[in-house]
Amino acid sequence: MSDADAALMEASLIAVADAGIDIRHALFERFFAAYPDRRASFISVDAASRRMTDETLQMMLGLAQDEGWVWPLVAELVFTHRSYGALPIAEYDAFIDMTVEELGLAARPAWSAASASAWQQNADSLKAMIRKARAEWASAMPAGAPQIA
Ligand code: HEM
Repeated sequence: MSDADAALMEASLIAVADAGIDIRHALFERFFAAYPDRRASFISVDAASRRMTDETLQMMLGLAQDEGWVWPLVAELVFTHRSYGALPIAEYDAFIDMTVEELGLAARPAWSAASASAWQQNADSLKAMIRKARAEWASAMPAGAPQIA
């Protein structure tokens, strides 16, 4: 945990809010450009894009703040996402990285090397936590667990 990282991350969220930019639009365009076949998995991109974007940002900030709710939320996320098909881990990684990249574009000129590094470190922690959750579901409940790779 780093108070300095969390403060930098909050400052970029405030910069994006002040700029009035809703990053989910560019984020989902970019995600579907990279994974066009995945678009059909979404019943409502409008509804899901709000929650997926907000919760990804919240989880990264929560990790920076050492919040205990992040792990159960990640475990639940990984389990409920079984309903959306076999989602490769590479798509989770890409979605998280794209979220940070779109946040950085929207936060300019408040974005700095330090804020990018604070977000990236917690993005990497979130990716590791998703891997752990997938592995634990696979071990606890082999028949119905989300795939690991
Ligand atoms: C850290 C990453 C992610 C977070 C925090 C997240 C979060 C969420 C949340 C909160 C929902 C809404 C569930 C509900 O309202 O019942 C959702 C739906 C969904 N997510 Fe994610 N998600 C993530 C990554 C992904 C990835 C990588 C994919 C792969 C394409 C994906 C595909 C979907 C789909 C298909 C839906 C259902 C949308 C619909 O029914 O319209 N998610 N996600």
